Amino acid sequence: MKNISVIGSGTMGNGIAHVFALFGYSVSLVDISGPALEKALNTIQKNMDRQVSKGLLTEDEKSAAVENIKIYTSLEEGVQNTDLVVEAATENLEVKLELFRNLDKFTPESCVLATNTSSISITKIAAVTNRADKVIGMHFMNPVPVMKLVEVIRGYATSEKVTKDIMELSRGLAKVPVEVNDYPGFVANRILMPMINEAIYTLYEGVAGIEEIDTVMKLGMAHPMGPLQLADFIGLDVCLSILRVLHEGFGNPKYAPCPLLVNMVEAGYKGAKTGEGFYKYTPGSKELVI
Ligand code: NAI
Repeated sequence: MKNISVIGSGTMGNGIAHVFALFGYSVSLVDISGPALEKALNTIQKNMDRQVSKGLLTEDEKSAAVENIKIYTSLEEGVQNTDLVVEAATENLEVKLELFRNLDKFTPESCVLATNTSSISITKIAAVTNRADKVIGMHFMNPVPVMKLVEVIRGYATSEKVTKDIMELSRGLAKVPVEVNDYPGFVANRILMPMINEAIYTLYEGVAGIEEIDTVMKLGMAHPMGPLQLADFIGLDVCLSILRVLHEGFGNPKYAPCPLLVNMVEAGYKGAKTGEGFYKYTPGSKELVI
């Protein structure tokens, strides 16, 4: 695989394009929004500059990587000769299903279609294509250039060969891939989100305050960030929607979102991106530093 198309150039898409470009792939970055593409290119250059200043990259390697990236607002043009698509568009079922119907039409028959979805069923996405054996989850973590893990999610019909190829390709990007099966929340969010929900219940029931809960988890469990602050960074709306996927998918009340979380999202307190969640944020402080 040499030619990669990344669909969606937001938080995750620009990180994924960054990593593939650094490892010498020819990257077509596609977004419906021209300004989003321009912003993504700026972010990639800024993040690469940071890597240069830390001695992780030379100026020449940076220039070569930036040259590997081409941008497109047309999906059809951006995926014409591609070997692998990594879809990182907005987390919305209808958006993803429509994209995969089109990807199935526009990409070469041999092309593997991967999605970076956090919570949507790979099997459901694969079912709208005529190549379910070549549809797979590649769940990168934020920030992509820094985080080592890729959850490689096998849909019901994903082939053994495609799974092996994607595991191998992920290792080639200096990532650590972990193979998991396609059930709600996969592994990362199935374990993380109930922990965050429990932290919110602990606050809701008055067992302890925000900073106390986070301090217990940071100092007691050696977590780099407490669960309430982490929830703010992920976005409380995103946490709520993933908990709803778990709740509905398993039909088990243990995943029911805490009423405090529901209230906060309804009131517009969605975490760092809105300036307030469990903590208050000064504008722009959400960006994680690479
Ligand atoms: P984002 O909102 O930052 O970026 C989404 C981008 O997709 C936007 O630039 C938007 O213009 C574009 N887009 C929307 N519809 C499109 C279409 N039909 N064709 C092309 N581009 C389209 O979203 P973010 O956070 O980067 O998330 C992307 C995916 O990655 C989602 O599936 C999310 O669940 C997943 N994810 C997000 C993580 C995070 O920490 N933000 C972590 C792991 C996975």
